[in-house]
Amino acid sequence: MQLEKINNILHGVSGMNFHQAETMRNFILENRFENILELGFNHGVSTCYMAGVLDELGRGSITTIDQEWTRKAKPDLETILIELGLTKYVTPIYEPTSYIWALMKMLEEMPKPQYDFCYIDGAHDWFTDGFAFFLVDKLLTPGGWIIFDDFNWTFATSPSLKNSELVRNMPTDEKTTPQIRKVFELLVEQHSGYDDFIVKDGWGYARKVSTKSSSHMVQIKKEIVYQPVDVGLGSVIQKIYGKIKRTVSK
Ligand SMILES: C[S@@+](CC[C@H](N)C(=O)[O-])C[C@H]1O[C@@H](n2cnc3c(N)ncnc32)[C@H](O)[C@@H]1O
Repeated sequence: MQLEKINNILHGVSGMNFHQAETMRNFILENRFENILELGFNHGVSTCYMAGVLDELGRGSITTIDQEWTRKAKPDLETILIELGLTKYVTPIYEPTSYIWALMKMLEEMPKPQYDFCYIDGAHDWFTDGFAFFLVDKLLTPGGWIIFDDFNWTFATSPSLKNSELVRNMPTDEKTTPQIRKVFELLVEQHSGYDDFIVKDGWGYARKVSTKSSSHMVQIKKEIVYQPVDVGLGSVIQKIYGKIKRTVSK
């Protein structure tokens, strides 16, 4: 489905702008992404644009996560997807608190990385998105990309948040620091598993190393080890230790 058609229907709904949608389209087509993970969808503008590109390709899927309240957003993601006929490309996840929790469940359920692209446009804070990066990294295939939106965004300049109680009570440097930039510069760029970085038009792009070495699966096996422990007065009890064995397979 053409981006223009999606733009006509989404006109006036807040979210990804048309220029970003075009950039995103080119990026998805260039890299032939098939399995997309999105953190933060709100009304679903970015989700619909990305689903439109998958529709052009005729394949692929997007898993997108936001909070419960977005079910009642006006308009809401699922209603727009139905209107656009793009529902089949998108699996929304509505979390009570945070995508951090949903990512934990995904890690439990997925035996190996499966997303080739992740678009992060959620909390924009160090606490959440710093951690989100490490969780997403575990779900991202070698050679996969992450885009961080709002590279220079701050709480102090956010029209919708700057006067909120949360932000008024925040320490000044937390309010005025672009926290996504900190995540990118201190965690992503310094991560040995990432080898290509672009900062452009408010987005930070990072590619996960695609060499064979990065695709080693680390299997973690837990063994229960019984070890006698002397607790004095001659009594000996058996103590259980969990021993973790790491096996790297090629
Ligand atoms: C800027 S909006 C997303 C806009 C959307 N990506 C677009 O371009 O159309 C940010 C969204 O992130 C969500 N969000 C923020 N922190 C979150 C968290 N910890 N877990 C889940 N969703 C979160 C908010 O509920 C909000 O809907």
